[in-house]
Amino acid sequence: MRGNEIRRRFLAFFEDKGHLHLDSFPLIPKDDPSLLLIGAGMAPLKPYFTGKVTPPCKRVTTCQKCMRTGDLENVGRTARHHTFFEMLGNFSFGDYFKKDAIHWAWEFLTEELHLEPERLYVTIHPEDEEAYAIWHDEVGVPASHIYKLDDNFWEIGEGPCGPCSEIFYDQGEAFGTDPDNQMGGEGDRFLEIWNLVFSQYNRTADGRYEPLVHKNIDTGAGLERLAAVLQHKKNNFETDLIYPLIEQAAALAGVKYGEHEATDVALKVIADHARATTVLIGDGVLPSNEGRGYVLRRIIRRAVRQAKLLGIQEPVMATLVDTVIDLLGEGITDLPGKREFIKTNAATEEERFQRTLDQGLLLLQQRLDDLKAEGATVLAGSDVFKLYDTYGFPWELTEEIAAEAGVTIDRDGFVRA
Ligand code: GLY
Repeated sequence: MRGNEIRRRFLAFFEDKGHLHLDSFPLIPKDDPSLLLIGAGMAPLKPYFTGKVTPPCKRVTTCQKCMRTGDLENVGRTARHHTFFEMLGNFSFGDYFKKDAIHWAWEFLTEELHLEPERLYVTIHPEDEEAYAIWHDEVGVPASHIYKLDDNFWEIGEGPCGPCSEIFYDQGEAFGTDPDNQMGGEGDRFLEIWNLVFSQYNRTADGRYEPLVHKNIDTGAGLERLAAVLQHKKNNFETDLIYPLIEQAAALAGVKYGEHEATDVALKVIADHARATTVLIGDGVLPSNEGRGYVLRRIIRRAVRQAKLLGIQEPVMATLVDTVIDLLGEGITDLPGKREFIKTNAATEEERFQRTLDQGLLLLQQRLDDLKAEGATVLAGSDVFKLYDTYGFPWELTEEIAAEAGVTIDRDGFVRA
């Protein structure tokens, strides 16, 4: 089942259950200084959860554009880290609660997507007897497939949060049999595909949990993960939502995906960052030296560096943006109309970086060689600053390149410089 169809079916399923389908909100939060970028389906809906604003309908479903950049350096190295991703969700603002949310999630997965019930596992908060009873007594999930985990409490900074119940898909022993491969672990065998949050508290700026006036449902299912499961792919990058970008980058570089680990990582970073670049610029973020613009700048520059490492000489961003828009345009309907704007801005930033990249890399490589010869492992803050100020290297990029050579950077010295 193609990614576009999964998205369509999810939204139609919840529309049938009385939900209003809203378009994705932009990545730039509105009236929410606690967030730099929208990182979950519920984030733009916070005022509906807290009761500050009356929702257009008590039941809403969305496929929300999301960005998470907290662990940027893991992108491409794991099966499922992304900066940009799409999150499917169904939401209740003081309307239905646990029972319907659980039953509908099960119905969608087993009857609409035809996932085998024997491969599904769920986790609940240890004190959530109500969720246990619904899963076990009503849905019929055997006790051996229900795990009680203390950290089953979902929150994203300030705002609505609560205990949650996650649904996992067992991808089978081929994905690993080591002890990490268990529910809630880091292994790939059990893949979390959906999180049902029983949203009943509001986390305040000073870290208190206030009960919400009404109980809500907030769910999040990663579209790329569902696609990986349904398309029997070992990672999200190989799904039809992303793979054409890997093929395109591989063709430009004259390399093959699946032969060398380092090449695959580079191709995945390029694919991921091309998606993020397209959607960020589409939502009006432009490269700059602060805030969201800096996130975008870092992402474009990381992609360009990886393209260079693969031996691609010509500019890549505009070509990749074209493909991203072809892939995502059905779900993110405003992208095609902004095609030229996005391409031009991505290409301009790439050019800006290209002009100094080679010189900067040469300088950095020399400094790293010198350090190695001296037996030292810390790059001076003044070097990091020179790369930043003169060659346009976000300090995080320098840090990453240095780390590849076993060298750390002097952050304090950089800040002082
Ligand atoms: N808001 C639920 C999730 O992102 O998992």
